[in-house]
Amino acid sequence: MSHPIVEFREVSKSFGTFFANKNLSFAIDPGTIHGLIGENGAGKSTAMKGLFGVHSIDGGQIFIRGKAVVPQGPKHMMGLGVGMVHQHFMLAGSETALDNVIVGEEHVGLFQKIRRGKVLAELQALSAQSGIPFQAWNTRVQDLSVGDQQRLEILKLLYRGSDVFILDEPTAVLTPQEINDLFATLKRLKSAGKTVVLITHKLKEITEVTDAVTVLRRGEVVTTLRTSETNASALAKTMVGRAVSFTYSGPRTDVAPDAKVCVEVKNLRVDDPFDRVKSASFFVKSGEILGFAGVAGNGQSQTFKYLSNPSAFRGRSSGDYKTLEGAALKDQTHADPEQLRHSKIGIAPEDRHHEALVLDFNMNENFFLGQQSDARYQKYGMIQKSSVREAVVRAIHEFDIRPKAPEHPLKKMSGGNQQKLVMARTLDPAPEILYIAQPTRGVDVGSIERIHAEIMKLRNEGKAIILLSSELEELMDLCDRIAVFFDGTLMDTVHRPDFDLWTLGQRLGGSQ
Ligand SMILES: Nc1ncnc2c1ncn2[C@@H]1O[C@H](COP(=O)(O)OP(=O)(O)OP(=O)(O)O)[C@@H](O)[C@H]1O
Ligand SMILES: [Mg+2]
Repeated sequence: MSHPIVEFREVSKSFGTFFANKNLSFAIDPGTIHGLIGENGAGKSTAMKGLFGVHSIDGGQIFIRGKAVVPQGPKHMMGLGVGMVHQHFMLAGSETALDNVIVGEEHVGLFQKIRRGKVLAELQALSAQSGIPFQAWNTRVQDLSVGDQQRLEILKLLYRGSDVFILDEPTAVLTPQEINDLFATLKRLKSAGKTVVLITHKLKEITEVTDAVTVLRRGEVVTTLRTSETNASALAKTMVGRAVSFTYSGPRTDVAPDAKVCVEVKNLRVDDPFDRVKSASFFVKSGEILGFAGVAGNGQSQTFKYLSNPSAFRGRSSGDYKTLEGAALKDQTHADPEQLRHSKIGIAPEDRHHEALVLDFNMNENFFLGQQSDARYQKYGMIQKSSVREAVVRAIHEFDIRPKAPEHPLKKMSGGNQQKLVMARTLDPAPEILYIAQPTRGVDVGSIERIHAEIMKLRNEGKAIILLSSELEELMDLCDRIAVFFDGTLMDTVHRPDFDLWTLGQRLGGSQ
């Protein structure tokens, strides 16, 4: 009988007095894709960082191919064939793709040049063999799409001889097409005898691609199941401890016939070498959710960015952009975020780490960010710390943010809990107009239910909402209309009665 390739026996890890992992025991068979699921903060990333040696474990044992191992660090574990792609990529943005693979190897002058050529040839061969396409070896990582960054991370692990590939929420930032490509890659790795550990919040992905799945809850293993013997609803219940509805089933009030137009955009153009907007015209009424759908790079994200800060596009954008303020439409063509905020527009940006949060700050400080001019939080140039803290305590309660400690630094919080804080801040105070991007990226199924209910409540109260999401199901669940972007152009706006996953998918690919 073959040994499990990885086995956890009674593994624990605590931060201070808090047990992030408590007596975890589970085994992963070689040549399988093993899912790891659990609510935000359940301890998934902590467990895998323990295996990869990012931090030491406090108790218990880890076995690799039947042998007890005390992980000394990533280098040690890579030597044993264990590789990890982190939830938040660790590539150096200003270096080229190739240099990110070579990093750590000391060569100078001519040797370096020869070495680079050799590594490049090896990588190209690996890419061809493994069927993981990648060409941009001389492009700086910061200019790569997330899909490419991920393929680069996987190729880097293959190059270093990994047998076990730990992928921490690899699909959270991918488009549906990129997810298909990634799954094809994972299946290829599996048929080559490699083992994959897949962390994801999307239970459909678990049922589609894994062989077995381990469920964590509040730092403990609930169970390990064969995927063929379970289903998404049962898994959700095991994870969260209650039944979870995957679609919104609460009230949906009719849009009033005389509902006012709150956002109006005509003939928007944005010049950009990577993501051009050639033409977008649309409107959103009070009590309505307009979805932005598109495959990455087709203009929907850029349109969202323009709406969130037109002043950053001065000189390279044209068109009309107005929002309702009081009884009249106000020109926002050159507005900055402060002016938009003044016009009661709330924004939850797409990239929470670069555009929304400072990870070294705690929850209070992050909550205060962007709200500096709010009289509730600042008087006579003095920050009203107690008011900020009170608001954070409320947010923690309303959004079930964990841990329930306002002084907790963001970098020590799980990804999904960071996202919940972004949503809470956007809704404080509830704006009249909302631009929300990827509101449930990296968020667990129970919290998605809560965030969706919150968005629908705002809609039913008459707010005008633009929702950018790479999840077509999410858009179809919540939106009144969906704007389809293709090739930098807003092609068409589909109304709710005409929503159909397949047709929308076709249209996103450019079919009429
Ligand atoms: N370095 C740290 N210091 C203190 N607490 C930490 C640290 N890292 C993680 N934690 C805490 O441990 C718990 C588990 O975090 P972990 O990142 O493993 O969750 P997760 O299951 O990966 O969640 P998510 O789905 O949101 O990514 C969380 O409550 C988190 O706040
Ligand atoms: Mg995590």
